[in-house]
Amino acid sequence: MSWIVDNQLTGFQKFCVNVIKCGPVPKHIAIIMDGNRRYALKNKMGKTEGHTKGFERLAECLLWCRELGVKEVTVYAFSIENFNRTKEEVDTLMSLAKEKFEKVFEEKDKIMMEGIKIRVLGNLSLVPEDIRILLAKSVLLTKDNDKSILNIAFSYTSRDEIVHSMKTIVEGLEAKKIEPRDVDVDLLSYCMYSNQSPDPDILIRTSGEVRLSDFLLWQIAENTQICFTEVLWPDFSIWNLLGCVFKYQRAYPTLKKYKDVCQSKRKILSNRIIAFLEDIEKKRMEQMEVYAKA
Ligand code: FPP
Ligand code: MG
Repeated sequence: MSWIVDNQLTGFQKFCVNVIKCGPVPKHIAIIMDGNRRYALKNKMGKTEGHTKGFERLAECLLWCRELGVKEVTVYAFSIENFNRTKEEVDTLMSLAKEKFEKVFEEKDKIMMEGIKIRVLGNLSLVPEDIRILLAKSVLLTKDNDKSILNIAFSYTSRDEIVHSMKTIVEGLEAKKIEPRDVDVDLLSYCMYSNQSPDPDILIRTSGEVRLSDFLLWQIAENTQICFTEVLWPDFSIWNLLGCVFKYQRAYPTLKKYKDVCQSKRKILSNRIIAFLEDIEKKRMEQMEVYAKA
C-alpha cells in the first residue's frame, strides 16, 4: 500500500466533503491512531497485519484531508512508551516503518508532485540507525514542499518534547544567545519539535480510549477540539472524519473567540529571539543531514 492513494471517493462522499468545505475547515488535525491490535484480534489476523491495515487507513485519511483542504496532519506513529512493548512487536513496528519510509523514495515523484512535506517529531537518538537514516532522508527530500504537511510523531512523547525544548532554552541562556527575561510560554512553544506548525484545531483519538497518552499536551492546551471515537483505527472512515470536522465547526465560534484572545496576547519577537530561533532551525536541519549521511 502506497502513501498516495488514488482518489476513490464516491459522488455522495465528494458532495458531503464539498458541503463541509462551506464551513470553516481546520488547518491542522492531529490523530492518535489507536486500536490496531484490537482490530487484528477482532478480524482474526496477526498484530502485524493489524498495524499494516492501520498504515493503509492512514494513507486514505491523508487523502481525505487533502480533499477537505486540511493543510497539516500530525499522527502518533510510535511513542517512546511503545519501546516497552515486547521485542517482537517493537521489531514488527520498526520493520513496518522501514518498509514505509523506503516507499517514500520509491514514490518520490508522486509525493513531490502532491507537494507533501514530511516532518518527523521525536527523539531520533532512540531510533535504530537504519530507520533514523530513512526518516532524516524523507525530511530532507521533502523540506521545500509546501502544499500539505505530514508530521510523523515517531519516538515521541509530549513530556520528552517539553524537556527537549527546555534544554534548548538552557543552552541558549548559557551561550548568552537569549536572556532570562526572554523565557516565557511562547519561547517554549517556539523550541518544540512542532515549532513550525499551528496548534492542532482537532485532536482525534480512535478506539474508545479517553486518554491523551502524552501526545501534543502543550499544543492542545488552549484551543483544540478533542474528538474521542469508539471506532478502531483501521475501521476509521471518511464519515468518522467528517463527523469530527462537523463537531469542530459547531464549536468554531467559541474556539475562534479564544484563539483571537490568545493571539492578541502574543508579543512581538525581539531580533535576539528571532536570531536564536533561526539558529535552532538551522541546527535541526544540520542534525538531519548528519543522520542522513550516517
Ligand atoms: C496503536 O494501536 C497504534 C500504534 C502503536 C502504531 C501506529 C502505527 C501505524 C498506524 C502505522 C503507521 C506507520 C507509519 C510508518 C507512519 P495499538 O497497537 O495500541 O492497538 P490496541 O490499542 O488495539 O492495542
Ligand atoms: Mg493502543
